[in-house]
Amino acid sequence: MDKFKRTLITTALPYANGPIHIGHLAGVYVPADIYARYLRLKNEDVLLIGGSDEHGVPITLKAKNEGITPQDVVDKFHGIIKKSFEDFGISFDVYSRTSSKIHHETASEFFKKLYDDGKFIEKTSEQYYDEENKQFLADRYITGTCPKCGFEKAYGDQCESCGTSLSPTELINPTSMISGNQPILKETKHWYLPLNEYEPWLKEWILEGHKEWKPNVYGQVKSWIDGGLHPRAVTRDLNWGVPVPVEGAEGKVLYVWFDAPIGYISATKELTADWKKYWKDPETRMLHFIGKDNIVFHCIIFPAMLKAEGSYNLPENVPANEFLNLENDKISTSRNWAVWLHEYLEDFPGKEDVLKYVLTANAPETKDNDFTWKDFQTRNNNELVAILGNFVNRALVLTQKYYNGKVPEIGKLTEADKNTLAEISKIKSEVEKSLNSFRIREALKNAMDLARLGNKYLADEEPWKVVKTDAERVKTIMNISLQITANLTICLEPFLPFSMNKLREFLNLEKLDWDKLGNTELKAGHKTNKPTLLFEKIEDSVIEAQLKKLQDTKKANEIAEAVANPAKENIEFDDFGKMDIRVGTVLEAEKVPKTKKLLKLLVDTGIDKRTIISGVAEFYKPEDLVGKQVSVLVNLAPKKLRGIESQGMILFAEDADGTLRLVAPEVNVKPGSEIK
Ligand code: 2FM
Ligand code: ZN
Repeated sequence: MDKFKRTLITTALPYANGPIHIGHLAGVYVPADIYARYLRLKNEDVLLIGGSDEHGVPITLKAKNEGITPQDVVDKFHGIIKKSFEDFGISFDVYSRTSSKIHHETASEFFKKLYDDGKFIEKTSEQYYDEENKQFLADRYITGTCPKCGFEKAYGDQCESCGTSLSPTELINPTSMISGNQPILKETKHWYLPLNEYEPWLKEWILEGHKEWKPNVYGQVKSWIDGGLHPRAVTRDLNWGVPVPVEGAEGKVLYVWFDAPIGYISATKELTADWKKYWKDPETRMLHFIGKDNIVFHCIIFPAMLKAEGSYNLPENVPANEFLNLENDKISTSRNWAVWLHEYLEDFPGKEDVLKYVLTANAPETKDNDFTWKDFQTRNNNELVAILGNFVNRALVLTQKYYNGKVPEIGKLTEADKNTLAEISKIKSEVEKSLNSFRIREALKNAMDLARLGNKYLADEEPWKVVKTDAERVKTIMNISLQITANLTICLEPFLPFSMNKLREFLNLEKLDWDKLGNTELKAGHKTNKPTLLFEKIEDSVIEAQLKKLQDTKKANEIAEAVANPAKENIEFDDFGKMDIRVGTVLEAEKVPKTKKLLKLLVDTGIDKRTIISGVAEFYKPEDLVGKQVSVLVNLAPKKLRGIESQGMILFAEDADGTLRLVAPEVNVKPGSEIK
């Protein structure tokens, strides 16, 4: 810390247009929370800032689609997000929102100061306008064909198929998402931050001054700067957001990426009257925890805004993470391809730490990573249960058994004891070294090494055997094992806060500061409590249920995204008239032996009772069909299938995922009724 007296940690403000998922958690909130808890354990002055980003076009689009107001949308999701963070134990000092009064005022003042100081360029340009709805179209309101890859549903700011950043005028066949019409170009005035003027300063500040930033962050910043910076519009023609506080700006709001990072300032203001200390005192270290898609905004645009304003600190580091995928597919809110935090908390009560652990152990720190339910189960069962849980359980249960829960005296030390004690005292500097350079995943591994050490120590020393011959020796073994357990409550506290709380209850121990790590704090004679299990095994059936949920989502997406086959060639009415389709009732049904798909049905067609073979055994059990009405093509020439003559065909609708469903009259009709 030396240079700094305190730390301000900001976490990317999630858009309040959907709930929080594991991608958000792994990229931003879990590492930020670990880091904040670590500093608090060191008794440092630290704030963890969060809040919802409640402006932006996706929110207005969602509101429009659902026929509600943008305020309704953000109220709903802000509530869900805030509660899920609380229940999951992300230890925000404040969780605010950008639709609040304090934020509107703060963002407004910030803009006004830059405006008054002449930091903006005012520019009139032609932008797309929807004549039917009489409004300018934000980039996200325009779709069209990507000029780079030909994808037909690219947005005005980006093609989600090839990832290229676009401007709306580059789109081929632009279409307004509001009216579906082709928009026209119309003049409009906006304010721009001339990023190009900040280029030399950014080069010096980051490219020269912050070579220690993570390579993924530094690299992205460098390539933006090398590509040349341009003036960037900080206002938009929209009616949802912070109104532009100058004359002649009616119907315009601040660009969401201008107001959102100011949200960090407003949240701090909401928390404490002493907010300036955290934002303006050069002895405060500011850190932005974000995902990689936010790098340019936090490393170039927001710093340029802060620099232009002149009285604020700049970030000291921006430890951005890469992305987490889910079961080998990109996480997506719109496609519901995610593990949602609020659902996880319902499905896995009391297992908050398991998710924190898995997301940290597998954090996308240097490259994109994949979350799989199988890995979740394996890490829980083979690491949390088998290593950590197993060690503390053995240490505590044996202490109950041999000493009625009392910590025994430590006696004469063997070489193995000395080595083990030396190992304990090494853990602190190792975890610190990793955490201080934001290698959080490595830090967790280092901390878990202490549990591995404990397990190995018990396995080598075998107190359960030695007790039969040398009771004195066992006292020393158990004392050392309990010291390891006490140390675990310190070094794993930032990572597994709920479990370490539980472990302290077992040990009957108060929370120990970070600087006690490496010590032997438990005194002989101290009474520990009877333990329960720290972690439980997760069974296959639980994982299968989660995989089934994802499979259902995949199916639903396939159906939603499927496009109907084009119509067949026209036919004459007489061609249609040749088909004799009747309503029938299924009298009997059975599987055709040795086939997977075939059912043999006896159908009352009103004309006769006949046998029909149908390939629907994957979708219907025989008993599901008995008594049901069906549509039968009765004049289809008979055909032998597996030695059985099928006398006609039953009609089914084939859903986009291939599922077959009966086509039947809405209410029962007399068998033999013609379908025409
Ligand atoms: O990418 C996002 O989800 C943005 N809502 C992050 C905003 S971070 C900050 F600037 F507020
Ligand atoms: Zn493209």
